[in-house]
Amino acid sequence: MAEKFYPTKLLIFVTLLLSINHSEQLQSSLPQTLLRIKRLLNFPSALSSWNSSTDFCSPDSDSSQTVVCYEDTITQLHIIADKRASPLPKNFSTDTFFATLARLPHLKVLTLVSLGIRGPLPGKIARLSSLEIVNMSSNFLYGVIPQELSLLSNLQTLILDDNKLSGELPDWLDSLPALTVLSLKNNLFNGSVPDSVGRLENLRILSLSHNHFYGPVPDLRHLTNLQVLEFDDNAFGPQFPRLGTKLVTLVLRNNSFRSSVPAEVTTFRQLERFDISSNSFVGPFHPALLSLPSITYLNISGNQLNGMLFENLTCSSELQVVDLSSNLLTGSLPECLQSKSSDKTVLYARNCLQDINQNQHLLPFCHTEALAVGILPESKKHKDQSKVGLSTGIVSGILGGVALVALVFFIIRRGNVRSSIKNPPTRLISESATPKYSSKHLSDARYISQTMKMATVGLPIYRTFSVEEIVVATNNFDTSSFMGESSQGQMYRGRLRDGFVVAIRCVKMKKRYSIHYFMHHIELISQLRHRHLVCALGHCFEYYLEDSTVSRIFLVFEYVPNGTLRSWISADRRAKKSLGWTQRIEAAIGVAKGIQYLHTGVVPGIYSNKIKTTDVLMDQNLGAKICSYNLPFLSDMGKVEHGTSSSGSKSPSVNRSAKHEDKSDIYNFGAILQELILGRAAKSRNEVDGLRVLFQASIIGDEEARRSIVDAGVRNSCLDQSLRTIMEICTRCLTKDPAERPSIEDVLWNLQFAAQVQDAWRGESQSSEGSPGSPFEPRRLTFH
Ligand SMILES: *[C@@H]1O[C@H](CO)[C@@H](O)[C@H](O)[C@H]1NC(C)=O
Ligand SMILES: *[C@@H]1O[C@H](CO)[C@@H](O)[C@H](O)[C@H]1NC(C)=O
Ligand SMILES: *[C@@H]1O[C@H](CO)[C@@H](O)[C@H](O)[C@H]1NC(C)=O
Ligand SMILES: *[C@@H]1O[C@H](CO)[C@@H](O)[C@H](O)[C@H]1NC(C)=O
Ligand SMILES: *[C@@H]1O[C@H](CO)[C@@H](O)[C@H](O)[C@H]1NC(C)=O
Ligand SMILES: *[C@@H]1O[C@H](CO)[C@@H](O)[C@H](O)[C@H]1NC(C)=O
Ligand SMILES: *[C@@H]1O[C@H](CO)[C@@H](O)[C@H](O)[C@H]1NC(C)=O
Repeated sequence: MAEKFYPTKLLIFVTLLLSINHSEQLQSSLPQTLLRIKRLLNFPSALSSWNSSTDFCSPDSDSSQTVVCYEDTITQLHIIADKRASPLPKNFSTDTFFATLARLPHLKVLTLVSLGIRGPLPGKIARLSSLEIVNMSSNFLYGVIPQELSLLSNLQTLILDDNKLSGELPDWLDSLPALTVLSLKNNLFNGSVPDSVGRLENLRILSLSHNHFYGPVPDLRHLTNLQVLEFDDNAFGPQFPRLGTKLVTLVLRNNSFRSSVPAEVTTFRQLERFDISSNSFVGPFHPALLSLPSITYLNISGNQLNGMLFENLTCSSELQVVDLSSNLLTGSLPECLQSKSSDKTVLYARNCLQDINQNQHLLPFCHTEALAVGILPESKKHKDQSKVGLSTGIVSGILGGVALVALVFFIIRRGNVRSSIKNPPTRLISESATPKYSSKHLSDARYISQTMKMATVGLPIYRTFSVEEIVVATNNFDTSSFMGESSQGQMYRGRLRDGFVVAIRCVKMKKRYSIHYFMHHIELISQLRHRHLVCALGHCFEYYLEDSTVSRIFLVFEYVPNGTLRSWISADRRAKKSLGWTQRIEAAIGVAKGIQYLHTGVVPGIYSNKIKTTDVLMDQNLGAKICSYNLPFLSDMGKVEHGTSSSGSKSPSVNRSAKHEDKSDIYNFGAILQELILGRAAKSRNEVDGLRVLFQASIIGDEEARRSIVDAGVRNSCLDQSLRTIMEICTRCLTKDPAERPSIEDVLWNLQFAAQVQDAWRGESQSSEGSPGSPFEPRRLTFH
């Protein structure tokens, strides 16, 4: 086994080597220099034994101070306070101090620990040109590493832990070719680590823990001597670093790594300590890590590693600590980790393991989470930057407000999607659109009306998000953020940095598509903005590294807080109040306007939205917003596009079916009206049709009979004319022959009429059917 290297061992070794003591008298100036150092350091207790009669070169030394002489010179100076001193007084100057030290020009080893040394590291340090080992930990050094340090060509060890040094690591580090130990823990360094570190071939220890470093780790594969890499508590990432295979200690804890862990780590035969906890690593956990011959400490907690564990896995006998908690591991805990003996710590809570004591995630979470961050190829990578290019065009096109919530999506027929490519970009057209339009124009609109985008103000404009933002917003996809899942992915609640609450849909791609494939989908989604739609605020792509295809799409929607429309009308609602009659018509108008927008506000129209009262969310003003609409690429991306070879012109069959789909939304809307009137949902299409017959009969029957079928909660507050109008339009919407169903404009006109008569009546009678604090403003009618 290769010899391990530790700084203290080196120190002792060097100390022994150099401390062949010559008792010759030092040049008389040397004691003076040392006493001056004592004075400059404000008489630290560590040096209490130094006085004018001290024989500095006697082999006597204690743990707090050591002076090593060789011939007439001092080669080593160690001063170590036993506890960290407070900063030296203001009149202390590092410049003066190092100028004094420079009178010991043969100094090879300098240890000045916990002495309260305050100030920048001066360029004068270069005068100590023989320096090989420097340890100035636990002082109050601040500022940047001086360029002059690069002149110390013999420097092997540089330890400046626990100071307040800042700035970036210099890129001339490779001018210190002998450097074997670089330890800068617990400072304020920032920036990324320069590539030159990867050329320090003698480096054995690299400790940059607890700074503000960020960005990718340079390629360290050529550091064949590297044994200790400590990068914890920074923001390195996202890719797992490339490393030499001789590592003994690898600590990447609490950074921003988001890649998978390469299987290569299982070939690091000398690995003793492996800590990648508190990152966002994904992909498989390699059980072979457990059986590495020297492994004693293994901590992968707080990631999203998955994979199945088996009872028959083998573990190294050296293992003392194994922490697998908070991942997505499945299977059973290996037997070799189950020992009850207390000499081993084994933690595995918050996974998806079977039959064990420590708390595991609930099954639904395991199922969905495992899906969400499922097995990704080795080199998965998130390339956030490339999204910018994509979205610039989109964003520039969408300066309107946005509104939304996320929930359910459908599939737009590929024919529609396809034809959208051929159409000129709708946003260009929209700029010249006139806000005045007749409903006739609307029915074959080729533009997005500005009017239709109204009232989405207050929402941020559409933009791209970085994976980091998504991760932060969802608290790393924490269980508590999980809202639910559908066939098209998982839904998470998130809070953006500015406090804005969003719903994030996470869609995992079944097939590999390049980003270009999604551009027109994204463009369409970005344009869907309407006060009665839960609109997308932005998106984020996650890529596979190898070929830059998309692995996941995150769609960020506005979060609509007030539950579904159904929860406001259904009989079994708990705490919530039921909507009054006017509020129900208002909600229906909202849904109808949303449908109208989906059909005519975008090109191509979005049909077959299959909207139910559970697909409509209520905002804080009880405004209705459709959350589940037929969003293009949530359709099965895996389907082969048969239409690819077609010329792109719409075939007659596409046209015909588009017409039917338009009317299928009308039918579903009729069912919503029915639910609003009855106060309950029909259980089947048959029941809907049966109720339609009942409605039809009651419309021509007497008022008494008509009212008797209405939800008791609104039975006495609705004006008969209003009720009849709604029942009539409801019945027409549910007509069997799609061609006979009314247009959405017709529906809207009738709803508005019903609201108007109700309003007028309510105004006259002063009777109020809503609560006194009804959130609705008196509605003003707008007939075209
Ligand atoms: C620096 O010196 C102090 C005092 O001897 C020691 O405790 C510490 O471990 C040294 N630092 C390193 C990184 O070896
Ligand atoms: C710094 O000031 C203190 C008093 O605050 C004094 O005792 C000490 O001698 C001064 N040190 C130097 C190096 O001037
Ligand atoms: C110097 O210190 C030694 C003990 O470390 C002590 O015995 C001696 O008296 C001191 N000499 C002076 C001049 O203070
Ligand atoms: C690093 O921090 C300093 C302040 O200490 C700041 O001026 C500088 O811009 C930062 N550099 C980077 C790359 O963040
Ligand atoms: C993670 O690292 C950051 C510095 O990058 C630090 O502020 C934070 O306290 C660390 N978190 C934990 C849990 O150690
Ligand atoms: C594993 O790492 C986590 C986070 O970094 C830490 O909180 C935990 O204590 C570690 N587990 C063990 C057993 O050391
Ligand atoms: C361990 O068990 C699994 C299933 O329980 C089996 O597939 C695998 O072959 C076993 N491996 C060994 C080395 O026995």
